[in-house]
Amino acid sequence: MMVSRGATRSPVIHEFEAVIVGAGGAGLWAALELARAGVRTAVLTKLYPTRSHTGAAQGGVCAALGNLEEDHWEWHMFDTVKGGDYLVDQDGAEVLAQEAIERVIELEQMGLPFNRTPDGRIDQRRFGGHTRNFGEGPVRRSCFAADRTGHMILQTLYQQCIKHEVTFFDEYHVVDLLVDDGLTGGVVAYRIADGELHVFRAAAVLLATGGNGRMFRVTSNAHTLTGDGMALAYRRGIPLQDMEFYQFHPTGIVGLGILLSEAARGEGGYLLNDQGERFMERYAPRLMELAPRDLVSRAIYMETRAGRGIGGQDFVYLDVRHLGREVIEAKLPDITDFARIYQGVEPLTQPVPIQPTAHYAMGGVPTDIEARVVVDDRGTVLPGLHAAGEAACVSVHGANRLGTNSLVDLLVFGRRAGRSMAEYCRSAAAPELVANAHEPVRAELDALRTRGVGENPNHIRAELAAAMMDDCGVFRTGDGLRRLVPRIRELKERYERARVQDAGSIFNTDLLEAHELGYLLDCAEATVASALAREESRGAHFREDHPERDDGDWLKHTLAYRAEGGPRLAYKPVTITRFEPKPRTY
Ligand code: FUM
Repeated sequence: MMVSRGATRSPVIHEFEAVIVGAGGAGLWAALELARAGVRTAVLTKLYPTRSHTGAAQGGVCAALGNLEEDHWEWHMFDTVKGGDYLVDQDGAEVLAQEAIERVIELEQMGLPFNRTPDGRIDQRRFGGHTRNFGEGPVRRSCFAADRTGHMILQTLYQQCIKHEVTFFDEYHVVDLLVDDGLTGGVVAYRIADGELHVFRAAAVLLATGGNGRMFRVTSNAHTLTGDGMALAYRRGIPLQDMEFYQFHPTGIVGLGILLSEAARGEGGYLLNDQGERFMERYAPRLMELAPRDLVSRAIYMETRAGRGIGGQDFVYLDVRHLGREVIEAKLPDITDFARIYQGVEPLTQPVPIQPTAHYAMGGVPTDIEARVVVDDRGTVLPGLHAAGEAACVSVHGANRLGTNSLVDLLVFGRRAGRSMAEYCRSAAAPELVANAHEPVRAELDALRTRGVGENPNHIRAELAAAMMDDCGVFRTGDGLRRLVPRIRELKERYERARVQDAGSIFNTDLLEAHELGYLLDCAEATVASALAREESRGAHFREDHPERDDGDWLKHTLAYRAEGGPRLAYKPVTITRFEPKPRTY
């Protein structure tokens, strides 16, 4: 590694072959592959690696191991395509379902402490939308470590990275992506400890920064999930794909949004309305509580809208009492503790109040199945740039992701990203740095910190989250989305004049949160424009004014490009290989 320092206020320059932004599951697996290939790699994270949001994933990682009953990767692929309401690119879904098996076994060999069957194999449980024999009924496909599967994955991969001497830059917040003349050149990062700018020059960059759930008021996402990688790409002329598809997880803690895993229903938990009915019978008679999340979240809203929420309010019950202490303690220990801690409810004896919570972005930075970023409808690759995990859109989740497919996604495509980057670095070098490449972002940060007067960005952030929740949530209408367009423009204009309270440079989290708000506003703008244009209902995008799926006009991916006056939209076809679109029933 070469480190050089110029005059005062010039950034610290680092030279690597590859840079990974984000140290969740996708970033860590990519780092591991690059380390194995001997590529000089830096991993930058605005957190400490094991605090990445992968660690919050609870219920499992699915793979058709067939440890408890017959299963096949083709069934997994089919469920993924159908669950995604046929907007899934099927070449990607095939890779996902096949390689899930290899990745889970590799994790087992790395020492991940999965729950076990009595005869010592990885235990598996049911999850929404995962079925046997192309939809006949639920299948046990999710491999799990109690309800802390993501936490275990993160720890396991981090240990492997340490063993392979991966270089980490903890608490470095990436503030710009360097792309010059159609080539990736590296990133600019802000060191949180002292406010110094650091330029990382590299031929290959991976955006593995996770999702953007903080666009919404009620969310399961950590405060750090602000769409950083998506916005960095968007600002460099790269489109964002399928942003209108945002998933609400059915079972969040009321008001707070903290996740109560679908594993509770996978183990046999019920959803009950005020009349004590298992209301899913009305909406998905075959799979009931194990229907895909888009259907279950809508069903909960429909119950509460019909006055059947608990006490007429906007929530229903998750009931696991009948599972008994032994199952709950062995398989659902964390989420039952969450109910005790945050709600004062004892799940062994009381039903738990829940409501849908903003959870997962199906959309993101478009990539091919090697995790290479593509910039148009013809699959043109931006050399050196990669994206994986929730920040990316391969697209293996289409219009609605199945539970436990997110962890598979980041394992499978994180590894593929690492391999593709290593291959790229064998023949490509980083382009020369443009003089003062860091200056635009320095000016932006300085303005936020030093302008004389200005609004507190926290107010803008709260208004954005409330507006997105009201008009771009589980149910959408043309009127609501049209209202949001000028609203977001107004919030962006106010953001341009905002000023943080802390003018210092030491651990200035105020400044970072303000900068993250800029990312969120960009993501929200692309989400709303894409949702307004899509006049149909598919997966998680439900338009009350266009309630039917319309394959004739809308079986296509959206690409939103940043432009003056609002995003420019383009479209590209869906890759269909094995499964022709059919109406979705459960
Ligand atoms: O419910 C859950 O445990 C979440 C899983 C997922 O989003 O894949």
